[in-house]
Amino acid sequence: MASPTSRRGIMLRMKTLSLQTRRTRAGAAIATVVTSTALLAAPTTAGAQPDSPAAPAAEASRADTVLGQPPLVIAHRGASGYRPEHTLAAYKLAIQLGADYVEPDLVSTKDGVLVARHENEISTTTDVADHPEFADRHTTKTIDGVTITGWFTEDFTLAELKTLRAVERLPTVRPANTRYNGLYQVPTFDEVLALVRAESAKRGRTIGVYPETKHPTYFRSIHLALSRRVVRDLRQAEMNRAASKVFIQSFETSNLRHLDTRTNVKLVQLINSTGAPFDLVASGDPRTYADLVTAAGLREIATYADGIGPNKDVLIPRDAGGFLTQPTGVVSRAHRVGLVVHAFTFRDENQFLPADYRVGTDPNAKGDAFSEYARFFDIGVDGVFADYTDTAIEARDLYYDEDTERQAN
Ligand code: G3P
Ligand code: CA
Repeated sequence: MASPTSRRGIMLRMKTLSLQTRRTRAGAAIATVVTSTALLAAPTTAGAQPDSPAAPAAEASRADTVLGQPPLVIAHRGASGYRPEHTLAAYKLAIQLGADYVEPDLVSTKDGVLVARHENEISTTTDVADHPEFADRHTTKTIDGVTITGWFTEDFTLAELKTLRAVERLPTVRPANTRYNGLYQVPTFDEVLALVRAESAKRGRTIGVYPETKHPTYFRSIHLALSRRVVRDLRQAEMNRAASKVFIQSFETSNLRHLDTRTNVKLVQLINSTGAPFDLVASGDPRTYADLVTAAGLREIATYADGIGPNKDVLIPRDAGGFLTQPTGVVSRAHRVGLVVHAFTFRDENQFLPADYRVGTDPNAKGDAFSEYARFFDIGVDGVFADYTDTAIEARDLYYDEDTERQAN
Protein backbone atom coordinates (compact mmCIF):
# COMPACT_ATOMS: atom_id res chain seq x y z
CA MET A 1 0.00 0.00 0.00
CA ALA A 2 1.20 3.52 -0.70
CA SER A 3 1.72 6.13 1.95
CA PRO A 4 -1.46 8.02 2.76
CA THR A 5 -1.95 11.50 1.39
CA SER A 6 -2.82 13.85 4.22
CA ARG A 7 -6.02 15.90 4.14
CA ARG A 8 -3.95 19.04 4.65
CA GLY A 9 -1.85 18.02 1.68
CA ILE A 10 -4.96 17.66 -0.42
CA MET A 11 -6.22 21.08 0.60
CA LEU A 12 -2.92 22.73 -0.19
CA ARG A 13 -2.84 21.04 -3.56
CA MET A 14 -6.40 22.10 -4.28
CA LYS A 15 -5.57 25.70 -3.40
CA THR A 16 -2.60 25.62 -5.77
CA LEU A 17 -4.77 24.19 -8.53
CA SER A 18 -7.38 26.85 -7.92
CA LEU A 19 -4.91 29.67 -8.31
CA GLN A 20 -3.56 28.24 -11.54
CA THR A 21 -7.04 27.61 -12.91
CA ARG A 22 -8.29 31.10 -12.12
CA ARG A 23 -5.47 32.58 -14.16
CA THR A 24 -6.07 30.40 -17.21
CA ARG A 25 -9.75 29.48 -17.37
CA ALA A 26 -11.03 32.20 -19.73
CA GLY A 27 -8.25 31.57 -22.20
CA ALA A 28 -8.72 27.83 -21.99
CA ALA A 29 -12.41 28.15 -22.83
CA ILE A 30 -11.66 30.10 -26.01
CA ALA A 31 -8.92 27.68 -26.95
CA THR A 32 -11.34 24.78 -26.61
CA VAL A 33 -13.73 26.26 -29.17
CA VAL A 34 -10.97 26.96 -31.68
CA THR A 35 -9.53 23.48 -31.23
CA SER A 36 -12.96 21.93 -31.66
CA THR A 37 -13.54 23.69 -34.99
CA ALA A 38 -10.13 22.67 -36.24
CA LEU A 39 -10.63 19.08 -35.17
CA LEU A 40 -13.95 18.75 -36.98
CA ALA A 41 -12.44 20.13 -40.18
CA ALA A 42 -9.16 18.24 -40.17
CA PRO A 43 -8.16 14.58 -40.29
CA THR A 44 -7.75 13.13 -36.82
CA THR A 45 -5.60 10.50 -35.26
CA ALA A 46 -6.89 7.66 -33.14
CA GLY A 47 -3.95 7.27 -30.80
CA ALA A 48 -3.86 8.28 -27.16
CA GLN A 49 -3.30 11.97 -26.60
CA PRO A 50 -2.84 13.51 -23.19
CA ASP A 51 -5.76 15.50 -21.80
CA SER A 52 -3.42 18.46 -21.43
CA PRO A 53 -0.91 19.46 -24.11
CA ALA A 54 2.07 18.23 -22.12
CA ALA A 55 1.54 15.22 -19.92
CA PRO A 56 3.00 16.74 -16.72
CA ALA A 57 0.65 19.71 -17.12
CA ALA A 58 -2.25 17.38 -16.32
CA GLU A 59 -1.00 17.58 -12.75
CA ALA A 60 -0.46 21.34 -12.84
CA SER A 61 -3.63 22.69 -14.40
CA ARG A 62 -7.30 21.92 -14.34
CA ALA A 63 -9.48 21.19 -17.34
CA ASP A 64 -12.99 22.60 -17.58
CA THR A 65 -16.17 20.57 -17.72
CA VAL A 66 -18.30 21.06 -20.83
CA LEU A 67 -20.69 23.46 -19.10
CA GLY A 68 -18.05 25.06 -16.89
CA GLN A 69 -19.96 23.77 -13.89
CA PRO A 70 -18.76 21.42 -11.14
CA PRO A 71 -19.29 17.75 -12.01
CA LEU A 72 -22.59 15.99 -11.40
CA VAL A 73 -22.78 13.50 -8.57
CA ILE A 74 -24.67 10.42 -9.77
CA ALA A 75 -25.69 8.01 -7.02
CA HIS A 76 -24.48 4.69 -8.41
CA ARG A 77 -27.30 2.19 -7.76
CA GLY A 78 -28.47 4.61 -5.03
CA ALA A 79 -26.36 5.28 -1.94
CA SER A 80 -25.04 1.76 -2.39
CA GLY A 81 -22.20 2.28 0.05
CA TYR A 82 -24.79 2.44 2.82
CA ARG A 83 -27.80 0.39 1.77
CA PRO A 84 -28.44 -2.67 -0.41
CA GLU A 85 -28.20 -1.36 -3.96
CA HIS A 86 -31.17 -0.60 -6.18
CA THR A 87 -33.70 -0.26 -3.36
CA LEU A 88 -35.95 2.72 -2.71
CA ALA A 89 -34.09 3.12 0.59
CA ALA A 90 -30.79 3.40 -1.27
CA TYR A 91 -32.18 5.97 -3.71
CA LYS A 92 -33.88 7.97 -0.96
CA LEU A 93 -30.73 8.13 1.14
CA ALA A 94 -28.74 9.25 -1.91
CA ILE A 95 -31.22 12.08 -2.43
CA GLN A 96 -30.98 13.04 1.25
CA LEU A 97 -27.20 13.12 0.90
CA GLY A 98 -27.52 15.54 -2.01
CA ALA A 99 -27.19 13.43 -5.18
CA ASP A 100 -27.87 15.27 -8.42
CA TYR A 101 -29.02 12.05 -10.09
CA VAL A 102 -29.93 8.55 -8.94
CA GLU A 103 -29.00 5.62 -11.14
CA PRO A 104 -31.31 2.63 -11.60
CA ASP A 105 -30.02 -0.24 -13.76
CA LEU A 106 -33.04 -1.78 -15.51
CA VAL A 107 -34.08 -5.31 -16.45
CA SER A 108 -37.51 -6.80 -17.23
CA THR A 109 -39.86 -9.14 -15.43
CA LYS A 110 -41.71 -11.95 -17.23
CA ASP A 111 -44.75 -9.69 -17.58
CA GLY A 112 -42.76 -6.83 -19.09
CA VAL A 113 -42.30 -4.54 -16.10
CA LEU A 114 -38.98 -2.73 -15.72
CA VAL A 115 -37.35 -3.30 -12.34
CA ALA A 116 -34.13 -1.96 -10.84
CA ARG A 117 -31.40 -4.63 -10.70
CA HIS A 118 -27.82 -4.61 -11.92
CA GLU A 119 -28.23 -8.10 -13.39
CA ASN A 120 -31.23 -10.10 -14.49
CA GLU A 121 -29.68 -12.91 -12.40
CA ILE A 122 -30.71 -12.08 -8.84
CA SER A 123 -29.11 -14.60 -6.49
CA THR A 124 -26.50 -12.15 -5.15
CA THR A 125 -28.82 -9.21 -4.57
CA THR A 126 -32.02 -10.86 -3.30
CA ASP A 127 -33.07 -13.67 -0.95
CA VAL A 128 -34.49 -15.74 -3.82
CA ALA A 129 -32.44 -18.78 -2.77
CA ASP A 130 -34.39 -18.85 0.50
CA HIS A 131 -37.72 -19.23 -1.30
CA PRO A 132 -38.44 -22.94 -1.85
CA GLU A 133 -41.46 -22.09 -3.97
CA PHE A 134 -39.04 -20.76 -6.62
CA ALA A 135 -36.49 -23.57 -6.44
CA ASP A 136 -37.62 -24.91 -9.81
CA ARG A 137 -36.80 -21.57 -11.48
CA HIS A 138 -33.10 -22.17 -10.83
CA THR A 139 -31.55 -22.55 -14.26
CA THR A 140 -28.58 -21.90 -16.53
CA LYS A 141 -28.61 -19.40 -19.39
CA THR A 142 -26.20 -17.70 -21.74
CA ILE A 143 -26.34 -13.92 -21.37
CA ASP A 144 -24.16 -11.84 -23.69
CA GLY A 145 -22.06 -14.92 -24.39
CA VAL A 146 -21.50 -15.78 -20.74
CA THR A 147 -22.95 -18.89 -19.08
CA ILE A 148 -24.76 -17.97 -15.87
CA THR A 149 -26.60 -20.13 -13.36
CA GLY A 150 -29.19 -18.77 -10.97
CA TRP A 151 -32.61 -17.14 -10.94
CA PHE A 152 -33.57 -14.60 -13.60
CA THR A 153 -36.00 -11.68 -13.44
CA GLU A 154 -37.54 -12.60 -16.80
CA ASP A 155 -38.78 -15.87 -15.25
CA PHE A 156 -40.75 -14.07 -12.53
CA THR A 157 -43.89 -11.97 -12.73
CA LEU A 158 -43.73 -8.67 -10.92
CA ALA A 159 -46.05 -10.07 -8.24
CA GLU A 160 -43.66 -12.98 -7.67
CA LEU A 161 -40.60 -10.74 -7.65
CA LYS A 162 -42.24 -8.51 -5.08
CA THR A 163 -42.26 -11.40 -2.59
CA LEU A 164 -38.43 -11.33 -2.56
CA ARG A 165 -36.30 -8.98 -0.49
CA ALA A 166 -33.02 -7.27 -1.34
CA VAL A 167 -29.72 -8.21 0.28
CA GLU A 168 -26.31 -6.54 0.36
CA ARG A 169 -24.19 -7.47 -2.67
CA LEU A 170 -20.85 -6.99 -0.87
CA PRO A 171 -21.40 -8.39 2.64
CA THR A 172 -17.71 -8.88 3.40
CA VAL A 173 -16.76 -5.42 2.15
CA ARG A 174 -19.74 -3.62 3.68
CA PRO A 175 -20.88 -5.82 6.59
CA ALA A 176 -22.78 -2.96 8.25
CA ASN A 177 -25.20 -2.97 5.34
CA THR A 178 -26.27 -6.57 5.99
CA ARG A 179 -28.50 -5.34 8.82
CA TYR A 180 -30.79 -4.08 6.05
CA ASN A 181 -31.03 -7.51 4.42
CA GLY A 182 -34.64 -8.60 4.08
CA LEU A 183 -36.16 -5.15 4.56
CA TYR A 184 -36.66 -3.83 1.05
CA GLN A 185 -38.39 -4.97 -2.11
CA VAL A 186 -37.08 -4.87 -5.65
CA PRO A 187 -38.49 -1.57 -6.94
CA THR A 188 -40.06 -1.00 -10.33
CA PHE A 189 -38.75 1.80 -12.52
CA ASP A 190 -42.14 3.47 -12.06
CA GLU A 191 -41.61 3.44 -8.30
CA VAL A 192 -38.14 4.96 -8.67
CA LEU A 193 -39.55 7.72 -10.88
CA ALA A 194 -42.36 8.36 -8.39
CA LEU A 195 -39.81 8.63 -5.56
CA VAL A 196 -37.68 11.06 -7.56
CA ARG A 197 -40.70 13.21 -8.38
CA ALA A 198 -41.94 13.22 -4.80
CA GLU A 199 -38.53 14.02 -3.33
CA SER A 200 -37.98 16.76 -5.91
CA ALA A 201 -41.28 18.41 -4.94
CA LYS A 202 -40.59 17.99 -1.23
CA ARG A 203 -37.06 19.43 -1.41
CA GLY A 204 -37.65 22.16 -3.99
CA ARG A 205 -34.87 20.91 -6.25
CA THR A 206 -35.10 18.73 -9.33
CA ILE A 207 -33.44 15.40 -8.79
CA GLY A 208 -32.38 13.62 -11.94
CA VAL A 209 -32.71 9.99 -12.96
CA TYR A 210 -30.06 8.12 -14.92
CA PRO A 211 -31.50 4.74 -16.05
CA GLU A 212 -29.33 2.09 -17.69
CA THR A 213 -30.76 -0.54 -20.00
CA LYS A 214 -29.06 -3.82 -19.10
CA HIS A 215 -28.52 -6.52 -21.76
CA PRO A 216 -30.78 -4.89 -24.39
CA THR A 217 -29.89 -7.35 -27.16
CA TYR A 218 -30.72 -10.28 -24.88
CA PHE A 219 -34.03 -8.84 -23.69
CA ARG A 220 -35.06 -8.03 -27.26
CA SER A 221 -34.30 -11.65 -28.18
CA ILE A 222 -36.82 -12.88 -25.63
CA HIS A 223 -39.46 -10.33 -26.70
CA LEU A 224 -39.04 -8.10 -23.67
CA ALA A 225 -37.36 -5.13 -25.37
CA LEU A 226 -36.28 -2.53 -22.85
CA SER A 227 -36.10 0.68 -24.89
CA ARG A 228 -39.79 1.23 -25.57
CA ARG A 229 -40.60 0.38 -21.95
CA VAL A 230 -38.10 2.95 -20.64
CA VAL A 231 -39.60 5.63 -22.88
CA ARG A 232 -43.13 4.61 -21.92
CA ASP A 233 -42.37 4.85 -18.20
CA LEU A 234 -40.58 8.18 -18.58
CA ARG A 235 -43.49 9.56 -20.60
CA GLN A 236 -45.97 8.47 -17.95
CA ALA A 237 -43.87 10.26 -15.35
CA GLU A 238 -43.72 13.37 -17.56
CA MET A 239 -39.94 13.00 -17.77
CA ASN A 240 -39.58 12.24 -21.48
CA ARG A 241 -38.65 15.71 -22.67
CA ALA A 242 -35.39 17.19 -23.90
CA ALA A 243 -35.33 19.40 -20.82
CA SER A 244 -36.04 16.52 -18.44
CA LYS A 245 -33.27 15.85 -15.96
CA VAL A 246 -32.70 12.40 -17.45
CA PHE A 247 -29.85 10.52 -19.08
CA ILE A 248 -30.43 7.03 -20.54
CA GLN A 249 -27.23 4.96 -20.67
CA SER A 250 -26.19 1.69 -22.25
CA PHE A 251 -23.07 -0.41 -22.86
CA GLU A 252 -24.57 -1.33 -26.24
CA THR A 253 -24.81 0.99 -29.25
CA SER A 254 -27.77 -0.02 -31.42
CA ASN A 255 -30.36 0.48 -28.71
CA LEU A 256 -29.05 4.01 -28.11
CA ARG A 257 -29.32 4.71 -31.83
CA HIS A 258 -32.89 3.42 -31.69
CA LEU A 259 -33.66 5.48 -28.59
CA ASP A 260 -32.33 8.56 -30.38
CA THR A 261 -35.28 8.22 -32.77
CA ARG A 262 -37.81 7.64 -29.97
CA THR A 263 -36.98 10.17 -27.26
CA ASN A 264 -35.45 13.59 -26.82
CA VAL A 265 -33.93 12.87 -23.42
CA LYS A 266 -30.15 12.80 -23.23
CA LEU A 267 -28.30 9.58 -24.08
CA VAL A 268 -24.96 8.28 -22.81
CA GLN A 269 -22.77 5.64 -24.42
CA LEU A 270 -21.08 3.57 -21.73
CA ILE A 271 -17.48 2.55 -22.44
CA ASN A 272 -15.84 -0.33 -20.66
CA SER A 273 -12.10 -0.66 -20.19
CA THR A 274 -11.95 -3.92 -22.16
CA GLY A 275 -14.08 -5.82 -24.66
CA ALA A 276 -16.77 -4.65 -27.04
CA PRO A 277 -20.47 -3.72 -26.99
CA PHE A 278 -22.41 -6.97 -27.16
CA ASP A 279 -24.67 -5.79 -29.98
CA LEU A 280 -21.56 -5.26 -32.13
CA VAL A 281 -20.21 -8.68 -31.16
CA ALA A 282 -23.55 -10.29 -32.01
CA SER A 283 -23.67 -8.65 -35.43
CA GLY A 284 -20.07 -9.50 -36.31
CA ASP A 285 -18.92 -5.89 -36.11
CA PRO A 286 -15.25 -5.97 -35.00
CA ARG A 287 -15.25 -2.60 -33.23
CA THR A 288 -14.29 -2.59 -29.56
CA TYR A 289 -14.75 -0.05 -26.79
CA ALA A 290 -11.21 1.15 -27.56
CA ASP A 291 -12.35 1.95 -31.10
CA LEU A 292 -15.30 3.91 -29.75
CA VAL A 293 -13.06 6.40 -27.92
CA THR A 294 -10.80 7.30 -30.83
CA ALA A 295 -11.47 10.73 -32.30
CA ALA A 296 -13.46 9.11 -35.12
CA GLY A 297 -15.32 6.86 -32.71
CA LEU A 298 -16.32 9.78 -30.51
CA ARG A 299 -17.50 11.78 -33.51
CA GLU A 300 -19.72 8.83 -34.40
CA ILE A 301 -21.10 8.60 -30.87
CA ALA A 302 -21.90 12.32 -31.01
CA THR A 303 -24.32 11.62 -33.87
CA TYR A 304 -26.68 9.76 -31.53
CA ALA A 305 -25.66 10.48 -27.93
CA ASP A 306 -24.93 13.41 -25.67
CA GLY A 307 -22.17 11.92 -23.61
CA ILE A 308 -20.00 8.97 -22.73
CA GLY A 309 -19.83 7.04 -19.48
CA PRO A 310 -16.35 5.51 -19.38
CA ASN A 311 -14.77 3.23 -16.87
CA LYS A 312 -12.22 5.35 -14.98
CA ASP A 313 -9.41 3.23 -16.42
CA VAL A 314 -10.31 4.50 -19.90
CA LEU A 315 -9.48 8.02 -18.72
CA ILE A 316 -6.45 7.38 -16.51
CA PRO A 317 -5.13 3.81 -16.82
CA ARG A 318 -3.42 2.06 -13.92
CA ASP A 319 -0.04 0.40 -14.16
CA ALA A 320 0.70 -3.20 -13.12
CA GLY A 321 1.01 -2.06 -9.51
CA GLY A 322 -2.38 -0.37 -9.56
CA PHE A 323 -0.97 3.17 -9.65
CA LEU A 324 -2.46 5.80 -11.92
CA THR A 325 -0.51 6.61 -15.07
CA GLN A 326 -1.07 9.51 -17.48
CA PRO A 327 -4.49 10.60 -18.80
CA THR A 328 -5.35 9.15 -22.20
CA GLY A 329 -6.87 12.27 -23.68
CA VAL A 330 -10.35 10.76 -23.97
CA VAL A 331 -11.92 13.56 -21.91
CA SER A 332 -10.48 16.26 -24.16
CA ARG A 333 -11.43 14.39 -27.32
CA ALA A 334 -14.98 13.86 -26.10
CA HIS A 335 -15.33 17.50 -25.10
CA ARG A 336 -14.15 18.63 -28.52
CA VAL A 337 -17.16 16.93 -30.12
CA GLY A 338 -19.53 18.20 -27.43
CA LEU A 339 -19.87 14.98 -25.44
CA VAL A 340 -20.01 15.14 -21.67
CA VAL A 341 -17.97 12.57 -19.75
CA HIS A 342 -19.44 10.81 -16.71
CA ALA A 343 -16.92 8.38 -15.23
CA PHE A 344 -17.63 5.19 -13.25
CA THR A 345 -17.28 3.94 -10.53
CA PHE A 346 -15.94 5.84 -7.51
CA ARG A 347 -15.84 3.82 -4.29
CA ASP A 348 -14.21 4.69 -0.98
CA GLU A 349 -12.68 1.32 -0.05
CA ASN A 350 -8.98 0.65 -0.58
CA GLN A 351 -9.54 -2.35 -2.81
CA PHE A 352 -11.33 -0.21 -5.39
CA LEU A 353 -8.98 2.78 -5.21
CA PRO A 354 -5.83 3.30 -7.25
CA ALA A 355 -2.77 2.21 -5.24
CA ASP A 356 -1.79 5.90 -5.01
CA TYR A 357 -4.64 6.55 -2.58
CA ARG A 358 -4.91 3.41 -0.44
CA VAL A 359 -4.51 3.95 3.29
CA GLY A 360 -3.25 1.06 5.39
CA THR A 361 -3.43 -2.58 4.42
CA ASP A 362 -7.10 -3.48 5.00
CA PRO A 363 -8.72 -3.80 1.56
CA ASN A 364 -12.13 -3.03 3.06
CA ALA A 365 -11.01 0.10 4.92
CA LYS A 366 -11.68 3.55 3.51
CA GLY A 367 -8.81 5.11 1.61
CA ASP A 368 -8.08 8.63 0.40
CA ALA A 369 -11.03 8.87 -2.00
CA PHE A 370 -10.87 12.68 -1.99
CA SER A 371 -7.56 12.60 -3.82
CA GLU A 372 -8.89 10.17 -6.39
CA TYR A 373 -11.83 12.47 -7.11
CA ALA A 374 -9.46 15.46 -7.35
CA ARG A 375 -7.33 13.60 -9.89
CA PHE A 376 -10.35 13.04 -12.13
CA PHE A 377 -11.70 16.56 -11.56
CA ASP A 378 -8.30 17.76 -12.77
CA ILE A 379 -8.93 16.28 -16.23
CA GLY A 380 -12.41 17.81 -16.55
CA VAL A 381 -14.88 14.97 -16.01
CA ASP A 382 -18.46 16.25 -16.11
CA GLY A 383 -19.90 13.74 -13.68
CA VAL A 384 -19.03 10.87 -11.38
CA PHE A 385 -20.91 7.67 -10.58
CA ALA A 386 -20.35 7.19 -6.85
CA ASP A 387 -21.27 4.52 -4.31
CA TYR A 388 -20.79 6.97 -1.44
CA THR A 389 -22.83 10.03 -2.40
CA ASP A 390 -21.61 12.08 0.55
CA THR A 391 -17.94 11.46 -0.22
CA ALA A 392 -18.43 12.55 -3.82
CA ILE A 393 -20.21 15.72 -2.76
CA GLU A 394 -17.60 16.56 -0.14
CA ALA A 395 -14.82 15.94 -2.64
CA ARG A 396 -16.55 18.26 -5.10
CA ASP A 397 -17.03 20.91 -2.41
CA LEU A 398 -13.40 20.69 -1.36
CA TYR A 399 -12.22 21.00 -4.92
CA TYR A 400 -14.56 23.66 -6.29
CA ASP A 401 -15.50 25.78 -3.27
CA GLU A 402 -11.87 26.70 -2.86
CA ASP A 403 -11.94 28.16 -6.36
CA THR A 404 -15.16 30.09 -5.69
CA GLU A 405 -13.77 31.41 -2.43
CA ARG A 406 -10.61 32.69 -4.07
CA GLN A 407 -12.44 34.32 -6.96
CA ALA A 408 -14.57 36.23 -4.46
CA ASN A 409 -11.49 37.58 -2.65
O1 G3P B 1 -23.73 2.99 -15.40
C1 G3P B 1 -22.44 3.36 -15.10
C2 G3P B 1 -21.92 2.24 -14.42
O2 G3P B 1 -22.88 1.95 -13.49
C3 G3P B 1 -21.71 1.09 -15.32
O3 G3P B 1 -21.33 0.06 -14.58
O4 G3P B 1 -21.77 -2.23 -14.10
O5 G3P B 1 -22.14 -0.53 -12.34
O6 G3P B 1 -23.71 -0.71 -14.24
P1 G3P B 1 -22.30 -0.88 -13.78
CA1 CA C 1 -25.11 1.13 -14.19
